[in-house]
Amino acid sequence: MVDLKAQYEKIGPEIDTAIKSVLESTAFIKGPDVRLFEEELQQYMCVMHVISCANGTDALHLAMMVLGLKPGDEIITTNFTFIATVEVVALLGLKLVLVDPDPDTFNISVEGIKKAISPRTKAIVPVHLFGQCADMESIMELASKHNLYVIEDAAQATGADYIFSDGTKRKAGTIGHIGTTSFFPSKNLGCYGDGGALYTNDDNFAKKLRSIANHGMKERYHYDDIGVNSRLDTIQAAILRVKLKYLSQFNESRKVVADFYDEAFSGSIHVTVPQRSKYSSHIFHQYTIKVKNEKRDKLKKYLESMKIPSMIYYPGPLHLQEAYRNLGYNENDFQVTTSLCKEVLSLPMHPDMEQDQLDHIASGIINFFEN
Ligand SMILES: Cc1ncc(COP(=O)(O)O)c(C=O)c1O
Repeated sequence: MVDLKAQYEKIGPEIDTAIKSVLESTAFIKGPDVRLFEEELQQYMCVMHVISCANGTDALHLAMMVLGLKPGDEIITTNFTFIATVEVVALLGLKLVLVDPDPDTFNISVEGIKKAISPRTKAIVPVHLFGQCADMESIMELASKHNLYVIEDAAQATGADYIFSDGTKRKAGTIGHIGTTSFFPSKNLGCYGDGGALYTNDDNFAKKLRSIANHGMKERYHYDDIGVNSRLDTIQAAILRVKLKYLSQFNESRKVVADFYDEAFSGSIHVTVPQRSKYSSHIFHQYTIKVKNEKRDKLKKYLESMKIPSMIYYPGPLHLQEAYRNLGYNENDFQVTTSLCKEVLSLPMHPDMEQDQLDHIASGIINFFEN
């Protein structure tokens, strides 16, 4: 699905030098590369503050901790996301309120959010799924009308632009009160282990987030907040400094792959290609097609037989997971999520795909439906 080896072969010497310099400095925790990476990412994202942390799940956890919410406060998010988005809500004793996505963009439905808002709602967590922004302008309008916080889960959308109706653009993750991201190796901006970050334009949130991510420590051995240990390793920061320089180029290469897939399946009545929203650029963390009539699993098996990898993101709705049964949802709730879980298939997508690989994948899929 991704080819991190091909990428390392391209940028290996730069990465090796970056790692070696950290090894020689022995500044493994909070070394200078961490601050420099935060500053460089801050510039790239055009945001006031970037606070690095240990992974994208922690970033979400920290974001929700800093809002000062109380057990039972309600958080609205999408039912069609990676589990991390919802588990932190549950861990903090907050009440998870799930909403179906839009079936075409895969992102949280604004109409669904409107219906889910109650007097106990405190925050909305849109997830910019597969590399394309949720409808942030509408979400921010709703949030301001109801006095709610917005935490953007931008783990899959580092580098995507949201385009407002007046034409101005902002990076995914920098529009809400706090944005979060992940540097998991397969992400568009990935390190060589775990890593994450938070974005905010609010000075107070930034200060508190920095403190909470470092044990709640204000000055050495003085604790104003109850915190956690969630820091980005210096080695990972040094790697990310190298990879950030290539992010725009890598995102462009992903778009070329997506354009090829779009064209290859344009005549197919069986394959629905991912819709591109008018209000967002798409950086194709995943290229996810929809296959109807219960043919998705057969297609996946056929592709396997041809040594073509594919993945199902996500195979089961969150509301039916054993761990979340206590939310009290029924089998038939969330029809859109349930259908998507049966129809979606993500195809290989990374910046180093070769034309012969792409031809093989596209012809494999077309042949499956022709035979
Ligand atoms: C949408 C989403 N949110 C959160 C995360 C969590 O990130 P991490 O794996 O770095 O904890 C991921 C990562 O896979 C993700 O895809």
